[in-house]
Amino acid sequence: MLPGESWQAMMASLDNHFGDNAELDPQVASEIGDFLNRHAAGPDQGGYSARLWRSTRKVALASRITDTDYFRGKHHEITTAMVTENPDIGSFSRCDACHADAAQGAFDEHQVSIPGYGRWDD
Ligand code: HEC
Repeated sequence: MLPGESWQAMMASLDNHFGDNAELDPQVASEIGDFLNRHAAGPDQGGYSARLWRSTRKVALASRITDTDYFRGKHHEITTAMVTENPDIGSFSRCDACHADAAQGAFDEHQVSIPGYGRWDD
């Protein structure tokens, strides 16, 4: 959901990964970097990937999916009580807390369930 240049910049600065040192063994970093390059958001990819890619074109370098206009637009109805103040979630970066199939890249808005609130019916 981020463009290749965002992932490359992130992998090149793992010593300061949002304030944490996330440095990896070079072999592991290389495998993850290859994966990210293969699956980065782009204009030719369908669905969420292309929409997120377009929404990152307005900023110099997007480093957080949650800061993109596309992400904000999709999540603007969700209150802080449901996320940051929710002991079962804590942060929007826990995609899988509400999107059970996030690991498979599935984010269908009809399949969302927010812990403590139940199914999202909008
Ligand atoms: C607190 C629960 C919650 C978390 C955490 C969350 N989402 Fe969502 N997401 C939702 C809800 C609810 C919707 C549906 C909003 C609507 O359209 O009414 C949604 C919609 C989406 C959609 C659009 C789906 C569609 O069918 O149009 C995408 C893509 C998405 N989320 C990606 C993510 C990603 C990526 C993350 C993690 C970085 C994330 N979400 C974290 C609750 C969450």
